[in-house]
Amino acid sequence: MQSIKQLHKQSSINHRRDEEVPPGPTSPYSPKALKHPRSLPRSINYLFREQRLLFVFVGILIGSTFFILQPSLSRIGPSEAGSAIRRSFSTGLTSRDQITGSGIYGFGKTGGRVPVGIGRRRLRIVVTGGAGFVGSHLVDKLIERGDDVIVIDNFFTGRKDNLVHHLGNPRFELIRHDVVEPILLEVDQIYHLACPASPVHYKYNPVKTIKTNVMGTLNMLGLAKRIGARFLLTSTSEVYGDPLEHPQKETYWGNVNPIGERSCYDEGKRTAETLTMDYHRGAEVEVRIARIFNTYGPRMCLDDGRVVSNFVAQAIRKQPLTVYGDGKQTRSFQYVSDLVNGLVALMEGEHVGPFNLGNPGEFTMLELAQVVKETIDPSATIEFRPNTADDPHKRKPDISKAKSLLNWEPKISLREGLPLMVSDFQKRILNEDEGKGY
Ligand SMILES: NC(=O)c1ccc[n+]([C@@H]2O[C@H](COP(=O)([O-])OP(=O)(O)OC[C@H]3O[C@@H](n4cnc5c(N)ncnc54)[C@H](O)[C@@H]3O)[C@@H](O)[C@H]2O)c1
Repeated sequence: MQSIKQLHKQSSINHRRDEEVPPGPTSPYSPKALKHPRSLPRSINYLFREQRLLFVFVGILIGSTFFILQPSLSRIGPSEAGSAIRRSFSTGLTSRDQITGSGIYGFGKTGGRVPVGIGRRRLRIVVTGGAGFVGSHLVDKLIERGDDVIVIDNFFTGRKDNLVHHLGNPRFELIRHDVVEPILLEVDQIYHLACPASPVHYKYNPVKTIKTNVMGTLNMLGLAKRIGARFLLTSTSEVYGDPLEHPQKETYWGNVNPIGERSCYDEGKRTAETLTMDYHRGAEVEVRIARIFNTYGPRMCLDDGRVVSNFVAQAIRKQPLTVYGDGKQTRSFQYVSDLVNGLVALMEGEHVGPFNLGNPGEFTMLELAQVVKETIDPSATIEFRPNTADDPHKRKPDISKAKSLLNWEPKISLREGLPLMVSDFQKRILNEDEGKGY
């Protein structure tokens, strides 16, 4: 028993000594120290035997080729990916919101490295006022070319029917929202159209019109700044007021009544242009400004007081065509698909603007009434009424800037375009008469 206790004591002393004294170079047994020098050459030998190293290199090559050609990963460089994730933190959105099934979205970059054969990078685009006349045609074009579109609209003058053909498309979203309130989204581009465009609608609540132009534009510019998106403002030829220069060039500063009935719209758009340029100069937001001249086409509001829709609706309803004043005031009329092509060319191009987008073909109101009669009802009559306040006498765009810098010009004449809107108006007026009006 004594000898067993001694043996145990001896062994525990030895054990403690092992712990206290690290095995030195002279240690008779050091398994770890001996293992490395022997195993390193063995693993290198293993790699060199039977061309295993060659197979490793071939594997790396195949892997990297796959990742280069894989579209969702090659759409964005590592620095952009990094900034996308940084932005996701700053906006409070998850990276999953930005990295969709189709790949990571770039921010504020409309270009990007696209491998040959893969095609253009898919963009996520907001269209404010996208349920309206121009907006819905723009949405059609953007969806058709393969982009994801989010429409923001409060349906003041816009209609869901204008977009019904996109409902159910996973690349399309419709949000009921008033742009005078801020909204947070992650997109590459913002087309800012939200604003009633016809005198009937913008005079209905002038304070709301100016609020939409000022607060709405501020909110969308703030969003563009925050997420690094490119921003396009749809301004108007009304910024030229009752022009003293004819035709109007972009360099003309206008002749606008600041206190008239139309000022909520005219001055509202002028302020929106000012805000846009200030965000560009002061906050380096990428901006584009379009000054749109009279545009017509399917989906215009019936009875909105705009001259083309007025005449067409009146001719279909067999009512006299109402001409305000002597009918000698001139306008230029642009078909909506020409405008949409111009807006996209401006957004994708490198120039800020402003750019006049309109058809320089100039018509008096009486000439327009004549074309409508020839197209719809030759027996239609004309009724003269007193002119409205601040109605400009002449309006015709000089589009040489858009022609040379955007390579854009309208293609569809009034005589070609008018019949294209007639069937849409006929269908809607018929539905209205049958009590299914929309
Ligand atoms: N059509 C033209 O001839 C013309 C000419 C010059 C400028 N523009 C400009 O083009 C844009 C579109 O014009 P349109 O002819 O399609 O007009 P529209 O009235 O058909 O469309 C405007 C859209 O904006 C929406 N909207 C209005 N206020 C809003 C708000 N506060 N929040 C959210 N949505 C709101 C409306 O519901 C509607 O869907 C407007 O900015 C207009 O000033 C149009």
